[in-house]
Amino acid sequence: MNHFLNSGVALNPAGTFPQNFVWGVAAAAAQIEGAAFTEGKGESIWDRFSRMPGKVHNGDTLDVACDHYHRFKEDFALMRQLGVKNYRLSISWPRLYPTGDGALNQAGVDYYHRLLDAMVAEGITPWVTFFHWDLPQALEDRGGWTSAVTVKAFANYAETVVKAFGGKVKNWITLNEIRCFTWLSYDVCVQAPGRKVSPAELNQTYHHALLCHGHAVRAVRQLGGPGARVGLTDNSTICMPVTETPADIAAARTWYAEKNIHLLGAIYAGGYSPKYLARCGADAPRVEEGDFALISQPTDFLGLNLYTGTFVRAGADGRPQEIPLPVHYPVADSPWLHLAPQVMYWGTRLAHETYGATSLYVTENGCGYNDEPVVNGEVFDLHRRDYLRGHLRELQRAINDGVPVDGYFLWSFMDNFEWQDGYERRFGIVHVDYATQKRTPKLSAHYYSAIMRENRIV
Ligand code: NOJ
Repeated sequence: MNHFLNSGVALNPAGTFPQNFVWGVAAAAAQIEGAAFTEGKGESIWDRFSRMPGKVHNGDTLDVACDHYHRFKEDFALMRQLGVKNYRLSISWPRLYPTGDGALNQAGVDYYHRLLDAMVAEGITPWVTFFHWDLPQALEDRGGWTSAVTVKAFANYAETVVKAFGGKVKNWITLNEIRCFTWLSYDVCVQAPGRKVSPAELNQTYHHALLCHGHAVRAVRQLGGPGARVGLTDNSTICMPVTETPADIAAARTWYAEKNIHLLGAIYAGGYSPKYLARCGADAPRVEEGDFALISQPTDFLGLNLYTGTFVRAGADGRPQEIPLPVHYPVADSPWLHLAPQVMYWGTRLAHETYGATSLYVTENGCGYNDEPVVNGEVFDLHRRDYLRGHLRELQRAINDGVPVDGYFLWSFMDNFEWQDGYERRFGIVHVDYATQKRTPKLSAHYYSAIMRENRIV
């Protein structure tokens, strides 16, 4: 697609983002709420996993986290002060259904009503994710993501959520990062539940996740009311050409399609490709009639969590070749987070070109550091400020080249429970002192606040 190269699209002289560009911040229930066993909430797989010795840094648990459960009003007031108009949050499945299915916990429903009302009172638009990793432990005990029981329970949960909150929520995200709660959780085993399964079962976890995505889309379409919009948030493997030459770009494109063949590839193609099925062989997922009619319903947007990527070039044999990162390649304190701002450009562009997605949102982007404590009320996270500037420039380059990006959510509003890295790793633009629960906006919060206000990179 030549128009992308030297497209001649004039940069907006003022350097602004498109009118109505959505700026926001993101977080997830399990990482901030705390109140892990309050008012009837059931145990999640992360409540269990964090108590297994050696699984989470420092033995940290989600029990208290940022105590957002009790402090959401002051958190929303702070968001408003910083000029946040859009907030991506998730609903805790075990808070609504303590055992995954069965009886509904009305106290959980009431809590999210209070929370959504408080947000709206501060002028903040909710973007709600149905599932951000906190599977009810009771469902894991019945097979978790390897079992169709989870799909059935999720379908019911999704309907409940839309029925309950559809009057207040118009922007829905079905699932967050399928790869993490399947592959990282049932194969690599660094995330909850950390249970190694066979290759066939692993492929089935992907398929079950796709079905749940489909059920959430269906629930929004059937029950979401006027103006409801829905999409998936994916963490595709992003392939970045080593040089921006036609040969390396073609290699990156091919590799990107191959790496994402089982998730986005299947959703957008309406089925598994013969290539993928051949790769799986006897371990291919079991597909029932009608599965892909559900999975591949059209959505309103595609959400992308963009953090890092893989460099690819055209190899000597004409095949794509991944280039391993040298030890000196810059990296955040999160050891997986190599700092390649062009992930924003290629992540959005390849999704648009490969799948024809016509509305993209960056639903997460940010960086994890072991930030210094607050000194005289300030945290000088210049590293995060520069990260944002560099990444947003690459996002703007994509937009200026015609890639349809409609919004950006920074991860994360405040420091929080960073899964297996516990509380050591901080992604927030607002510092949290976990001993006192005091919130202090970092330098990056003031910087991002100016970006949102001016709709341009300052
Ligand atoms: C992606 C996940 O969605 C989020 O929960 C996590 O904290 C960030 N990445 C940073 O690792």
